[in-house]
Amino acid sequence: MMSSNGRKVRIFDTTLRDGEQTPGVSVSPSQKIDIAMKLDELGVDAIEAGFPVVSPGEVEAIKKICKMGLKADICGLARTIRNDIDMAIDCDLRYIHTFIATSDIHLQYKLKMTREQVLDKAVFAVEYAKKHGLKVEFSAEDATRSDRQFLNRVFKAVAEAGADRIDIPDTVGYSTPKYISVLVNDVIENTRLPVSVHCHNDFGLAVANSIAGFEAGASCAHVTINGLGERAGNASLEEVVMALQCLYNYRHNIKTTILYDVSKFVSNTMGIIVQPNKAIIGENAFGHESGIHTHGVLNNPLTYEPISPELVGRKRWLQAGKHAGAHGIKSILDEFALRTTEEQLKQIVDKQKIIADSGQAITTSDLLSIASEVIKNKKFDGKFKLNEFHIVTGLHIIPTAVVKLNIHDKDFIASETGVGPVDAVLKAIQTIANDIASIKIREYKLDSITGGSDASAEVSVKVEDKEGNVISSRKSGKDIVVTSVQAVIDAINTSMLKNLLENENQVN
Ligand code: KIV
Ligand code: ZN
Repeated sequence: MMSSNGRKVRIFDTTLRDGEQTPGVSVSPSQKIDIAMKLDELGVDAIEAGFPVVSPGEVEAIKKICKMGLKADICGLARTIRNDIDMAIDCDLRYIHTFIATSDIHLQYKLKMTREQVLDKAVFAVEYAKKHGLKVEFSAEDATRSDRQFLNRVFKAVAEAGADRIDIPDTVGYSTPKYISVLVNDVIENTRLPVSVHCHNDFGLAVANSIAGFEAGASCAHVTINGLGERAGNASLEEVVMALQCLYNYRHNIKTTILYDVSKFVSNTMGIIVQPNKAIIGENAFGHESGIHTHGVLNNPLTYEPISPELVGRKRWLQAGKHAGAHGIKSILDEFALRTTEEQLKQIVDKQKIIADSGQAITTSDLLSIASEVIKNKKFDGKFKLNEFHIVTGLHIIPTAVVKLNIHDKDFIASETGVGPVDAVLKAIQTIANDIASIKIREYKLDSITGGSDASAEVSVKVEDKEGNVISSRKSGKDIVVTSVQAVIDAINTSMLKNLLENENQVN
């Protein structure tokens, strides 16, 4: 581990501003408020709540966030323009992040200003905001592609004008870790102010650049949940924080055990899926399939996991498939309290490899149905039985579903509305499942496997029980609503089977 002597760092979260600039993302004021609450619970030191000039909804959200009494400092973005700063003041913001570009390419093609004009505007904005009692963080947009001497002139001038903090934006992710260090050193030498770095991920270096910034003496990084942001995004909060803590021994205020929950919440609210192989919060970050790896992890997780999944609110999971070996498959079956003979285990491993060789991913329920065939256990019959469901949908109608399920010979009915028929029916099933077994639908994916309007659809789902165990299932069929219902019921049944077999084993 590199040593930072346990220095404490500041985390400035810009999910609600730069993160919302992710192409296609737009969140309502009430969604912004919900996210702000989560960020505060997570322990970020500052929340950039938005950019007041962009819309009336943005103003409404920022005003409300300012009134929430959160622990984090609430900040708003403003260009170096009087109207932007006035609007920030009208939102009740006490802290602004003001910016103007300093690179020649931005001056020539965007601002159409000379360097002197840029310098004057930067100083004006800082003086104006300070006169109104605001805390001011100044950013030189495109700092890393700016002439270094001019950049330092600007930073020096805004520091003399009263700026409280300086931020170095790597606006198009163009910097290397070495160059960020150079710029951080320059700012410290020229201004003696606290320095932040704001790194974009165009070359996949946003996290490395942020960390290089800290190593050079920056005290803060601008980051977003799930690395959301313009183009390839910003430095991801989860990755920066966990690398700082685990590899460099920095301290911070983040409650790491809720990182995964907050990531899921933001992903669902902003509608941007996290790539499965993303560090820390990607679905596969603590999943293992290969026989060699599962064997190692089962003996000692540190063999193939750098940190414990619980540290970031996750659970380790093992995947069946063509790379899986007997240890891994046995361990999955053990989770279901399924005992096999050595011969049965071998048959199960071989059978699932044959399916995997056809190019199919093996879901939990696939593995269990193979196991049921081999072990010949009647308990595998589904407990949730779908009796019927009805859906009303159409133009100007709120899609509504009524679902009737039978569980242990008892009927359960639920009715829900949704954004579409699938959403409505899955919500109705979820209502029943949640009441009976505290099972939640975590993931739903719909793929078309043939072309045309009569295409076959493949639905993959993951459900989670109250202990955080995730069960996957997949079904294909012509009717996407029916197929979705079948996939979810299959996953719920598999999850309930796990609990049933565990309970039985405890009794025996
Ligand atoms: O990336 C960037 O340059 C920004 C500015 C607004 C600071 O987000
Ligand atoms: Zn940015």
